[in-house]
Amino acid sequence: MLVSQDLLLYGLLASTNFGLTTASAIKRPRSATTTRERTSINADWRFERFVDAPDSLSYETLRPWILPSANNFLNGDKYEAPGEEAPGSDVEFIQPDFDDQGWEQLDLPHDWAITGTFDAPGVEGGLGRLPINGVGWYRKTLSLEDELIASGKSIFLDVDGAMSYAAVWLNGKFVGGWPFGYNSFRLDLTPFAKSGENQLVIRLENLLDSSRWYPGAGIYRNVWLVTASPVHVAHFGTYVTTPSVSADEATVDVAIEIENAGNSTSQVEIETKIYELDPTSRKPTGDSLATVKSTRVAVEGKSKQAVNGSTTVANPKLWGPPPSQKPNEYIAVSTLSINGTEVDSYETPFGIRTVQYDPLKGILLNGEPVRVYGTCNHHDLGSLGAAFNYRAAERQIQMLQDMGNNALRTSHNPPAPEFLDIADRLGLMVQDEIFDTWSFPKVKNDFHRIFKEWHEPDLRSFIRRDRNHPSIIAWSIGNEIPEQANSTGGETGKILQDIAHAEDPTRQVTNGLNTAKPGSPFTDVIDIIGLNYQGEGKGNSWVSTFPDFQKAYPNKMIWSTESASTVASRGIYIFPVHSNISTIVGAGPGEGADPETQQVSAYGLYAPPWAASQDKVFEQQDKHPYVAGEFVWTGWDYIGEPTPYDNSSRSSYFGIIDLAGFPKERYYLYQSRWRPELAQAKLIPHWTWPDRVGKVTPVHVFTSGDEAELFVNDVSAGRKKKGQYDYRLRWDNVTYSPGSIRVVAYKDGKEWASDSHVTVSEATALNVTADRTTIRGDGQDLSFITVAVVDKDGNTIPQGDNEITFSVSSGPGKIISTDNGDATDMVPFPSHSRKAFSGLALAIVKAEAGSQGEIVIEAKADGLTAGKVVLTAS
Ligand SMILES: *[C@@H]1O[C@H](CO)[C@@H](O)[C@H](O)[C@H]1NC(C)=O
Ligand SMILES: *[C@@H]1O[C@H](CO)[C@@H](O)[C@H](O)[C@H]1NC(C)=O
Ligand SMILES: *[C@@H]1O[C@H](CO)[C@@H](O)[C@H](O)[C@H]1NC(C)=O
Ligand SMILES: *[C@@H]1O[C@H](CO)[C@@H](O)[C@H](O)[C@H]1NC(C)=O
Ligand SMILES: *[C@@H]1O[C@H](CO)[C@@H](O)[C@H](O)[C@H]1NC(C)=O
Ligand SMILES: *[C@@H]1O[C@H](CO)[C@@H](O)[C@H](O)[C@H]1NC(C)=O
Ligand SMILES: *[C@@H]1O[C@H](CO)[C@@H](O)[C@H](O)[C@H]1NC(C)=O
Ligand SMILES: *[C@@H]1O[C@H](CO)[C@@H](O)[C@H](O)[C@H]1NC(C)=O
Repeated sequence: MLVSQDLLLYGLLASTNFGLTTASAIKRPRSATTTRERTSINADWRFERFVDAPDSLSYETLRPWILPSANNFLNGDKYEAPGEEAPGSDVEFIQPDFDDQGWEQLDLPHDWAITGTFDAPGVEGGLGRLPINGVGWYRKTLSLEDELIASGKSIFLDVDGAMSYAAVWLNGKFVGGWPFGYNSFRLDLTPFAKSGENQLVIRLENLLDSSRWYPGAGIYRNVWLVTASPVHVAHFGTYVTTPSVSADEATVDVAIEIENAGNSTSQVEIETKIYELDPTSRKPTGDSLATVKSTRVAVEGKSKQAVNGSTTVANPKLWGPPPSQKPNEYIAVSTLSINGTEVDSYETPFGIRTVQYDPLKGILLNGEPVRVYGTCNHHDLGSLGAAFNYRAAERQIQMLQDMGNNALRTSHNPPAPEFLDIADRLGLMVQDEIFDTWSFPKVKNDFHRIFKEWHEPDLRSFIRRDRNHPSIIAWSIGNEIPEQANSTGGETGKILQDIAHAEDPTRQVTNGLNTAKPGSPFTDVIDIIGLNYQGEGKGNSWVSTFPDFQKAYPNKMIWSTESASTVASRGIYIFPVHSNISTIVGAGPGEGADPETQQVSAYGLYAPPWAASQDKVFEQQDKHPYVAGEFVWTGWDYIGEPTPYDNSSRSSYFGIIDLAGFPKERYYLYQSRWRPELAQAKLIPHWTWPDRVGKVTPVHVFTSGDEAELFVNDVSAGRKKKGQYDYRLRWDNVTYSPGSIRVVAYKDGKEWASDSHVTVSEATALNVTADRTTIRGDGQDLSFITVAVVDKDGNTIPQGDNEITFSVSSGPGKIISTDNGDATDMVPFPSHSRKAFSGLALAIVKAEAGSQGEIVIEAKADGLTAGKVVLTAS
């Protein structure tokens, strides 16, 4: 049988929580052959990509056989596969005896495009120029024990995400598929499985012009084999809600859908116990706190049966976002028994909390108004691409949280399931979004092609997968939908919102509206008015639409689903600096962009014509305090959409944090607003300008203080106080001369924080640091290694662009990728050599699976003293 960490944890859980439970009304001898097992099958796949399809098995060809995979998520008529066998029996890759030894051997999650060069024919800058297109075939041998097959258990394939148009065969027989690359899906392998070796085959296809951004390519999330007794909790089969919550007690309702895959009726005993969740293992901890009392139902063969129950948890520890609240979690463990024997055990992590949507106060979490300090983020993980990695996702979220970011919008598609686990654990609120298009296209081959048949199953399965996460405070059914402003948009929007309400009546629904107006049919329908950019006024317009929407819909909450879109390159300052707090980015003087280097000034004042700087957004949010908050475009830079250099660069300029994970200057401006109690001050620009001696070089300060004094070469340049709508302090008339700048910030008249820069000397060395020096030797955990080019005093060289070569000089480490956050850098991500950008470069390192011991990572550059860092794999 397959063995995994997950199985071991399960065994541990079973012995501590079930074997020893005596209070239970039912005796539960645990049967190894009947209970559920969920095993990772990420390891050891074979893969081959074809730019042009080597077969004729397009989605159109397979569609009638794929559609029945949607049946569990359709309320009306179900699909039936045609009588004849699905096409493919003549395709060699599908044959169990096909010799795949010449194909690439790899482990999942896998993104076939991320290691490529930035010149894929037909793949535009918007998609990041990497080879996402073509057909990818994946093959894996699954060994299944005789005992498993003989037991009659159900055997499922759970795919957390495969990009895209997945079609699956087992032992040469067609199983099913799922076209939407961002959703998770389950296929039933039971009818096709046999004891011994089974050949699993997955075909994916990505068309050109299928996305507006880098979608990734391949089986880019985790894949699981789930085995369960024929009578089991159905796929996404629990729904835990907390309809009433007080300090004394919370009502916990548990709805369970039981599936009986067997042929005859079973009398099933159901009981659910509630425990606190251990945030690290995501398993129950301590004694059970409450029990949904056991009930018995008859579940007919080949059918499903819903069972609802309720219990109360005394003195509940509520889930809520820090700093004012704590993200406490619970877990419901539901057991099914037949004739006194436990046949299934199913865990549902959840949280106890209330969320209200107040048109004047915004989001109330557990009754407390919590202003939304959110960011939008794409699903890629920088140089790791779309291939999901828990630590990389956790690092993204942690860095955002350190900035004071308390909410995430999963723009514009369902995230990896673990992303939501992290948000639950760390306490960030989530706007969980599903679609970027409905019936009308943004690009030729996007989701609109299949919207008609797939919107219902995709939306229902998305909500059923995610609705137990306490972090989710709203569903988003769309982003900048082309038909948002007309009657078609109103009708489609109502259909989608009705589905969302039916699947989850506890949360409101929103949408990113960029053209819809008050009175547009869809605006009338949507629960929460989500505005993209129009609230703050687009470009050089200061006209806000917030008041019009508020007047037209006084009972609806309003928030900015997308704000800012400020563009910037970390460490790059372009002169002259615009005097306004926001202006349209361009190549002219004071417009922030340099067409020659294709960089954008990091003063954070520049945005495309539809957008605004963060300072302007803050001002408009503060002038309209009923607005619940904002989701900034974007928290992190991402691959593709390199506006304003869409035709040449590889990655975005929108991020507050660059693609490598280095905070841009604006990070500290957001931090000053979102964490007002954190004493901080950030001074820009750097102070090394050999060609600016005697020239005006504006100095700006981001601080959570309310006042600051600037010193240029130790001489005061004046003390300034923030006015009502000032979010930065500016000394725009400073003349550069080498030496130093220093700022002392004050709050309420008291010294609060300081920052300084000196004019650096020659680069002499590389300074190497790691975000974590101890990592698990599991082949998945990562250390993010930063190299700074420094002078003799250890100061980072602000314009440092030395070519750096990384190596593993000893130990079981592997360099997966490198980056520097430069949107114009066309060196492929796996390269071990890369130029520093504004003095910094990054390498991402893992330890080989099963390894232990020291790993030494070295960085070298011509003429500089090499640097190294020692990691420990444990
Ligand atoms: C059971 O709970 C589900 C989810 O809350 C609900 O939709 C359904 O109506 C409930 N069924 C009964 C019989 O109460
Ligand atoms: C259920 O019935 C089908 C069709 O009659 C049969 O092929 C299958 O073996 C039966 N399954 C079990 C578990 O008895
Ligand atoms: C349950 O027990 C009864 C009585 O012992 C037996 O007839 C029946 O077959 C059992 N059912 C199952 C599913 O094991
Ligand atoms: C609605 O908008 C879409 C997208 O712009 C357009 O293609 C369609 O023709 C419009 N439909 C109606 C009924 O106006
Ligand atoms: C920025 O420009 C807007 C629009 O022209 C103007 O209303 C505003 O006063 C300007 N702000 C500053 C600080 O110049
Ligand atoms: C990019 O290329 C497109 C198509 O060739 C062109 O329409 C557009 O103006 C170009 N954009 C820039 C910023 O050069
Ligand atoms: C900036 O400095 C110049 C020269 O020192 C001076 O003429 C000008 O008035 C100053 N401008 C501001 C806004 O202080
Ligand atoms: C240099 O490395 C040390 C730790 O080794 C670190 O504390 C320091 O911040 C680094 N300096 C720079 C400029 O990165």
